[in-house]
Amino acid sequence: MLEWMANIGTVAATRFSRGPAVLAYLDRHFFIRPVRLGEFVILKARVEYAGKSSMEVRIEASKESPGGKQELVTMATASYVAVDEYGVPRPINNVLEPTNEERRVYEEARKRYEERKIKIEDRKLRRFDLTDPTKGLRWRVESSRWATPSDAFIGNLVSGGRLLAWLDEIAGLLAARYSGGAAVTGSVDETAFYAPIRVGDIVTIRAGITYVGKASMEIMLDVIAEGAYGQARHVCTAYYTYIHVDSSGRPALFPSTCPAMTMKGSCSWRARKEGRLGMRSWRRLRRCGRALGLSAHLLLLILSHY
Ligand SMILES: CC(C)(COP(=O)(O)OP(=O)(O)OC[C@H]1O[C@@H](n2cnc3c(N)ncnc32)[C@H](O)[C@@H]1OP(=O)(O)O)[C@@H](O)C(=O)NCCC(=O)NCCS
Repeated sequence: MLEWMANIGTVAATRFSRGPAVLAYLDRHFFIRPVRLGEFVILKARVEYAGKSSMEVRIEASKESPGGKQELVTMATASYVAVDEYGVPRPINNVLEPTNEERRVYEEARKRYEERKIKIEDRKLRRFDLTDPTKGLRWRVESSRWATPSDAFIGNLVSGGRLLAWLDEIAGLLAARYSGGAAVTGSVDETAFYAPIRVGDIVTIRAGITYVGKASMEIMLDVIAEGAYGQARHVCTAYYTYIHVDSSGRPALFPSTCPAMTMKGSCSWRARKEGRLGMRSWRRLRRCGRALGLSAHLLLLILSHY
C-alpha cells in the first residue's frame, strides 16, 4: 500500500512539474481500515502547492468492497522535489493558480510547505550522519541489498515507493517475529529523505523495536546507501507502528511469553520523549469519536490535519 501511495504521488508530481520528481518528505499518517483480498484500492493524488522546485501533494487511498461501498483507508500529505536526470533539484516548469474553491486547500498546503522548511533545515548535515540509532536495541534486524534497475523509476534513482515497501517488509518481519503472529501497519511517522539511492548502491536497512504497548509496537528504521566508489549516505530514519492482530484481523494482546520491553530498558529516547497517545487521551478520543460516529483512528487522522 505504501509503495502504491508513493508511486501515485510521484505520478502527480511528475505530471505537474513536467519532468522527474522524487519523494522528499512523507508526513505522519494512519491506516484506518485494513484492505482485504478481493477489495479494490482506489488511489488519488493531487498537487496542492508548488514552491520553486518542491511540491506539496495530498494522497488518498480508499477501498471498494465487491458491493461497491467505498471507505477511506488512509490519507497522507507529502513533499516531492522536481529533479533532473541526475537527481539535482530543478525549477518547476508550471504554475499552480488556485480557483476560489481551491484557495483554502492551497493556503493550508503553503503553510505545510513553510513549516517543512524549518523541519528540514539540518538536511545537509543529516545526509552524512551514519551513526546506527538501532544499536543496543534488544530486538533488532539488519539487512543489505543491491539496488537494481527494476527498483528505479527515473534514470538510476530508486523510487521512494520501492524503499517504503522494503521498510514495511523488514519492519513487518520484526513485528511478526516479536509477536509470534500477524501484525499490520498502524501508522507511519513523518519521514524525510535526505539522499537518493542509486542503481548499484548497497542499501542497508537497520530496524529495531523501540516501544512495545499491549498490542502495538514502534519500530525504528534507518537506511544507509553506499556506492561502489562513493561515500555512504544517510537516506532516512523512519518510525512505523505495528498492531498485533488475531486471525480475524482484530487487535490482539501480545502473548505473555513475549519478553517485556519497558520504557526504562531498551526503548529509544524518541519513544520516551514523544510517547504514544496516553491511554487516557485515547479513551477520550474514542468517546468523542463514538459521539460523532467515527472511529478513534479516523478522528485522530482528521484532527492531525487541522
Ligand atoms: C530532495 C533532494 C533532491 C533535495 O536536495 P537539496 O540539495 O537539499 O535541495 P535544495 O537545498 O536545492 O532544495 C530544493 C528544494 O527542495 C526542498 N527540499 C529539500 N529537501 C527536502 C526534503 N527532505 N523534504 C521536503 N523538501 C525538501 C527545499 O525546501 C527546496 O524547495 P523549494 O525550491 O520549493 O523552495 C535531496 O534531498 C534528495 O535527493 N533526497 C532523496 C530523494 C529520493 O531519492 N527519494 C526517494 C528515496 S529512495
